[in-house]
Order: sequence, then structure tokens, then C-alpha cells
Amino acid sequence: MSKVDVVIGLQYGDEGKGKIVDYLAKNYDVIARFGGGDNAGHTIYKESEKIVLHLIPSGILNPNILNVIGNGVIINPISFKQEVQMLESHGIDVKSRLVISDKAHIITPIHKAWDVHNESSQRIGTTMKGIGPCYTDKVSRKGIRVCDIFKPDFHLLGVKWNNQIGLPFEVPNLKEFFEACNFLKQFRIESTEILLNKLLDEGKKVLAEGAQATGLDIDFGSYPFVTSSVTTTSGVCQGLGVSPKRIGTVYGVIKAYTTRVGNGPFTTELNDSIGDEICKKGNEFGSTTGRKRRCGWLDLDEINYNAMICGVDKFVLTKSDVLNDFEEVKIYYNGEYLPLTGWKDVNSDEFERFVTMIESYTNTSVNIVSCGAGRNDILEREYIV
Ligand code: IMP
Repeated sequence: MSKVDVVIGLQYGDEGKGKIVDYLAKNYDVIARFGGGDNAGHTIYKESEKIVLHLIPSGILNPNILNVIGNGVIINPISFKQEVQMLESHGIDVKSRLVISDKAHIITPIHKAWDVHNESSQRIGTTMKGIGPCYTDKVSRKGIRVCDIFKPDFHLLGVKWNNQIGLPFEVPNLKEFFEACNFLKQFRIESTEILLNKLLDEGKKVLAEGAQATGLDIDFGSYPFVTSSVTTTSGVCQGLGVSPKRIGTVYGVIKAYTTRVGNGPFTTELNDSIGDEICKKGNEFGSTTGRKRRCGWLDLDEINYNAMICGVDKFVLTKSDVLNDFEEVKIYYNGEYLPLTGWKDVNSDEFERFVTMIESYTNTSVNIVSCGAGRNDILEREYIV
């Protein structure tokens, strides 16, 4: 019996999980998304072509991998259609490589309109993709699932929405939405929980691809400045329908510094020229919304908490090259900033000291280091701790 390995973000998203999933994909038969929607932005490269995925799992470039959108994911049919067309324009045959859960919920234009409206008063800094309102409907037991789009009276929803009175916004044009739902119908849609458990029984290797991150988790993130889904390892079980006994290795992805897009607490935030420099060198602008990301030093207190929640076995350290050429780099640990001499490149003793400090303060080994934007800019390290 195989297990499900997991790639999970340990900060506030944007740790570079897409690249890591793409890198690890060669070892797996299946890549599965278990939560979130098109609020995610996972950047991967096909040779030198940059591809940003929002909903479709990051194994889609590999013809030998089956990609699964699990029941915990929420799907905006309009952006799904756009993403499929974008991938097809890169010569990728999505249909033969993708399976979608019949139980995944649908994000409608009404959800998006509510998200925009709610933001005018709550100011979470959401991606405005309708995420909160869609998960709210799911939990309120009035959501729409992928299986519902096959019902003969599905289109009557439009009439219901148009007749709703007292909405604080105009009902958006629904034509594109219903067309996109029809587009969605041609894909392989089934009970992916049954499929995944069967594949695991057959010994197939499955990697669960986290979206957002533990700092944005609905329970363990900085509530209310969080997303509306379970972004931790336990979300894998519920969002794919696999038992906790089937969880294998958990890779916790950490960026060499911290970023956050949207509002909410940020202990190590740098509101100065160093923060600006990290932002510029790291190109820290949201891949989904284009917003400038807030930047700060690596916070090991937060990472220790998040790694505890997620049961992390190994760390993957990303964007370490962004800190090249800084005279001094800091790590936040136990409520204090620890200064370190900066490094010129990741093959230096100074960088090694940064990594071993992370390992000794977290008691977890850093097994993979991503040190550049390119697909092959990756160093694998020996198991040390
Ligand atoms: P929502 O998920 O659009 O409701 O946004 C809630 C919070 O999560 C906001 O602070 C967003 O900026 C943040 N967020 C949602 N998805 C991502 C992501 O994929 N990367 C980084 N931040 C995200």
C-alpha cells in the first residue's frame, strides 16, 4: 500500500510550492490538489516558458502524471476554462491528464460579487476570487457541486439569481458562466476519493499539492486574516478522501525570508529599504493579483508552530538566492533577531551556516534548496539532523 506524500507551505503562501511539486513530480504517478481555488498562483516553467497555474495541479506538464482536483477544491468554471485554453496553447493536452472530483464545489459569479462587496467593509485583503463566499455556501449546505452541473434544471439557477431581491450588487452577466460549466462537463469527472484509494492500493505514488499555506489556515492561521479552507496536512485527508493512516512524507516549504500579501499580522515585516530590496530582488508581486507582497525576515517561531501542525518531515528552502549579496541576514527565533553574515552565493560557508541554523532551531533537516528561478536551480542536501 502506497502513501500520500504532501507538499505544504509553512508561511503565508508564495513559498514557491509549484516549482517544488514540478521538481518532485518525476517520482510520482499522481499529483492532487486538495483545497483552495484559483486564489492560488503556482509558477512553473516549460523549458523557458513561464506558466502560472491557479487551479490545475502542477504535474500537468508531465504526460505520465495523472492530475487530480479533489473534493476540497473549489472551481471557478470561467477561470478553469481560461487555464485549460492557456495550457493547450502551450501544447499541453489537459483532458487526458486531469480528473476532477464530482464533489468539488463551484465558484459562481455571485460568490465573486459577494467577495468584492464584503471586502469594502471587512478588508481582509482577499484575492476577490469568491473563495470565502463559496466555502460559506458549502458549509451552509447550499453550495453547488460539480455533479450538479449535469442536472437538467441547472440553468434555472440563473433565473433564481436574477430574481433575487435586495442584493447589494447587480447580478453579473451569467452567459459566460453557464458556457464555462458546459465546457467543464467534457472533462473526466468522478469520485476521485475512490480513484485515489484504488491507485494507492495498487502501489501508485501520490503527491498532494498544498495551496496557500499554514499561516492562512482557517483554524491555525492569523484569523480572521486567513483564507477559508484547511491548508494544513489534515486538509489532505478531508480534501482528497484519504485516511490519516495514508499520509507519508510531509515536505514543508519555507522561503528564506517571509512574505505576505493581504492584511494581517506579520512579526518580522521590514518597512524599510531592506524590505524594498527583498521585494525587488525576489520579484515579490502576487502571481494571482499582481499586488506587492510585504517582505520580512525568516520567522522560525512561526515555522516551528506551523511545522508542528503539519507534521513536517523535511524542509524545502526556496528563493535563497534572493538574499545573495546582503551584508547581513537575520533569523527570528525565540522572540529575538539573530544576525548572520550575508553570503555571495549558495555554495558559500555563510549560506551553509544559515541553513544549519535553521536545522538546529527547528530540529528538521533542509533536504532541498531552490536557488534560482530556473527549473534546474535546485540543490539536494544530505539528511543531516
Ligand atoms: P482569499 O483566499 O482570496 O479569501 O484571501 C484571504 C487571504 O489569503 C488574503 O490575505 C489573500 O491575500 C491570501 N491568499 C489567498 N490565496 C493566496 C495564495 O495563493 N498566496 C498568497 N496569499 C494568498
